[in-house]
Amino acid sequence: MPYQVIIPAAGQGKRMGAGKNKLLLEIRGVPVFIHTLRVFESDPDCTGILLAVNPSEKAEIQELLAFYDIKKVIGLVPGGSERQYSVYNAVKELQGDGIAMVHDAARPFIDQHLIRKLTEAADQDGSAVLAVPVKDTVKKAAGNQILETVERSSLWAVQTPQAFRVSTLLHIHQKAAEEDYLGTDDASLAERLGIPVKIVEGNYDNIKLTTPEDLYFAEAIIRKREARSN
Ligand code: CTP
Ligand code: MG
Repeated sequence: MPYQVIIPAAGQGKRMGAGKNKLLLEIRGVPVFIHTLRVFESDPDCTGILLAVNPSEKAEIQELLAFYDIKKVIGLVPGGSERQYSVYNAVKELQGDGIAMVHDAARPFIDQHLIRKLTEAADQDGSAVLAVPVKDTVKKAAGNQILETVERSSLWAVQTPQAFRVSTLLHIHQKAAEEDYLGTDDASLAERLGIPVKIVEGNYDNIKLTTPEDLYFAEAIIRKREARSN
């Protein structure tokens, strides 16, 4: 099932505290965002990549794309002040119809098997996101006073990719822009309009590199994969 992918890469990586965009940090000598792009570069179903970048990093990113021989990036769009605005700038550049997904550049451990499951769900149901069951007991609190324990069996930790029909993705972002709504992911822009979104169960390897300790988890995931392939 062919699809296009939007990859927001225009954040600042404040919580990583590296003093620069965390996506330019290297894992095994390769920048984080290149790891992510390689998954799509090598996926025959991926027809094109739109990358949202901070204009001040555009030249450096273009050089890295050339150096690592990434050929599927069909557009570099300027990032915005929030992730949603970065994604919207790319949504406006989507070509044709079919399926488009949004995937954080900061999630390098996505795999093609899950991408395929997600694309098929989006093709069938219109909108679908990858998610994993929440493992922790989650409490709702006011300040540090517990109000209640939230029933865990209904809780999912949502990841990216999140996949939509191109027309739906355009519609939900246009509406959010018109109504000045800022959500924390793309699915929330659909949910608020009553558009149903399916959950596709993913895996716990698809972490978002957010804080410094995530780099240790990343190393562990890579080692596990190396052990498997030997
Ligand atoms: N992103 C983006 N434009 C923004 C903010 C974020 O394109 N204005 C991208 C990031 O580059 C990342 C993804 O959205 O690939 C998820 O965001 P997050 O993990 O929050 O990254 P940062 O915003 O860079 O990190 P932080 O919130 O710690 O500053
Ligand atoms: Mg952020």
